[in-house]
Amino acid sequence: MNELISSFSQQLEDAYFNFQKLSLSSFLDKNRNISNIVMVGLGGSGIGGNLVQTITRSLLKVPYQVCKTYNLPSYIDENTLFIASSFSGNTEETLASLEEAQRKGAYIVCLTSGGKVKEIANQKGFDLVPLKSLAACPRAHLPYSVTSLLLLLNHYGLIEIDFEKEIKETVESFNQKDEIIKKEAKQLAIALKGKFPILYADAILEPMLIRFQQQINENAKQLCHVAVFPEMNHNELVGWHLPKDILSKTHILLFHSDYDHERVNRRMEICENIFNKHTTAITHISAKGNSFLEQVFYLIYLTDWVSYYLAEENGVDPFPVEVINYLKSSLQ
Ligand code: F6R
Repeated sequence: MNELISSFSQQLEDAYFNFQKLSLSSFLDKNRNISNIVMVGLGGSGIGGNLVQTITRSLLKVPYQVCKTYNLPSYIDENTLFIASSFSGNTEETLASLEEAQRKGAYIVCLTSGGKVKEIANQKGFDLVPLKSLAACPRAHLPYSVTSLLLLLNHYGLIEIDFEKEIKETVESFNQKDEIIKKEAKQLAIALKGKFPILYADAILEPMLIRFQQQINENAKQLCHVAVFPEMNHNELVGWHLPKDILSKTHILLFHSDYDHERVNRRMEICENIFNKHTTAITHISAKGNSFLEQVFYLIYLTDWVSYYLAEENGVDPFPVEVINYLKSSLQ
C-alpha cells in the first residue's frame, strides 16, 4: 500500500500521457448534442466521479450526476454521456446500469481494467479508457481515474482545463512537500488512534471527505463520520449531546480550502466554539496549492497517508478488504 500511495504523482502523469495515445470518438463525428452526463461506479471506482463533479462545478456546460446503484434516472437518452467505471469490470450495479444505458441509446464510455465491462466495450465499440492493474486495488487508482475522467470531459468539449500546467504544478508541489506531507499525516494518525474521527468541511469538499472516510474504512479498518457545512448547521449540530465517555472518543477534523464560502468560514468559527464545549480534540487541516484541483489532490494525498499510518497504529494490514470479497462472492 505504501508504494501505491507513493505512486500518486506518477499516476497523474501516466494518465495524461496514456490518454494522448487513445483513439476516442468525438461527439462531433456522431452528431450528438450531449445535454447531461451520468457516471456510474461503486466504491474506489465511483469516488473519482464525485471528485470530478466538485472539481468541474464551475466549468461544466451540462448537468452531471453520479449514480451508485442498479437503476438510472429516467431522463437518460441518446443525448446522455454515460460513463461506466469499474476497476474489475464485474461490479453488478455498474453492469446493470450499463445495460440500461445501452437500452436507452446513451453515448457510452467505459473505464476498466477488464472483466465484463471491457468485453462489452470491445464488442459494441464503446470508447474505452483502460486502467492498469495496480495490484488489484481499485481505490489505489484514484489519481489515475480522476485525471482520466477530467481528460475525457475535456476531450468531448464539456470542460476546458489546461492539464499540462495543472499536472506539472501538482507533481512539482508534491515532490517538494512529500516529506512534510507524510510527517503531518503521521502526526494526525497518532492523534486519531483509538478515536472516532468526525470530518467536517465546506460542501465543495464533500467528495474529498468521503474519500478520506472510505480510506479510513478500507485501509485502517474502522468507522468514521462525515458531514458538511452549511447543511450540518441545520440538523447535526443539535446532536452534539453525547454521553461523556463517547464524547471523549471523538476527534473532529475541520478541513479548509481557499475556495470555501466566506459564510461557511464564519459558520465554522461559531461552531468551533460550540464544539469546544463538548470536546477539545479538534484539528484544522488546510489545503495547499494554486488551484482548486491542486488543493483537492493535496488533501487526498495527505489523507491517503493518514489512513495508511492509522492502519499501522491500529495494527492492521491496509491492503486486504476480505469482507467486501466475502460479500461479493456470497451474492453470486
Ligand atoms: C476499493 C474496493 C472497492 C471496489 C468496489 C467496486 O479498493 O475494493 O471499493 O472499488 O467494490 O469494485 P470495482 O472497482 O471492481 O468496480
